[in-house]
Amino acid sequence: MSASPFILPPAPERLDVVRERVRLRPVVETDLEAMAQYRGDPEVCRFLPFEPQTADDIRARVGHVLGGTSLEGDRGGVIVVIERVEDGAIIGDLALFHLDTNSGAAEIGWVVSPAAAGRGLATEAVRALVDTAFSVYGLRRLVARIDPENSRSIALAERLGLRCEASLVENERLTQREGDEVEYTILAREWAARA
Ligand SMILES: CC(C)(COP(=O)(O)OP(=O)(O)OC[C@H]1O[C@@H](n2cnc3c(N)ncnc32)[C@H](O)[C@@H]1OP(=O)(O)O)[C@@H](O)C(=O)NCCC(=O)NCCS
Repeated sequence: MSASPFILPPAPERLDVVRERVRLRPVVETDLEAMAQYRGDPEVCRFLPFEPQTADDIRARVGHVLGGTSLEGDRGGVIVVIERVEDGAIIGDLALFHLDTNSGAAEIGWVVSPAAAGRGLATEAVRALVDTAFSVYGLRRLVARIDPENSRSIALAERLGLRCEASLVENERLTQREGDEVEYTILAREWAARA
């Protein structure tokens, strides 16, 4: 790992990542109802650290970062929606958050609607966000914290080359469940080597 201090580049003025089948852009107010369609589903929330959400719940939780592209600040983070290129539908959302400004590490999270699952769209979208995290935000390490029973999420992490770096027992972060989690990680240099 580089011994040089981590310096976060200026946040991009605009974030718009377009891939073959998905487009990522910061979430805005008018996306909240569409996000509530899948975030309001108990099955989708089974392994997430929150109860099923309405648009108001989502606004209360992430309203302060709507439209934002900055990772900085105590409650900072970037939340992007996944738009399906084919029809413009909002099929999920992704987040970069909990930036550690000393090490250049941050967490990554993903949620995709069951209606769009099973076709590689989540994989394509997360791949695009990992690219962005390293190339635009200059991050050095990404960590995904996953419930050990969330096999689809683990499969996605492994499909993208993240490696299981830690297994935490009764960790307090995932408070709705017993708190067990596995941490899947990838370094910028590991990602570059895969490209
Ligand atoms: C985790 C989650 C995003 C995974 O979704 P997913 O549908 O499994 O992921 P993808 O859209 O990438 O689809 C993968 C499937 O498409 C298949 N696939 C088809 N074309 C593909 C392609 N071009 N690239 C990759 N996979 C492809 C894969 O083989 C895989 O098939 P399988 O389900 O039979 O194994 C989703 O289950 C989810 O949002 N869950 C609820 C929220 C959650 O738990 N979030 C994680 C918290 S840590």
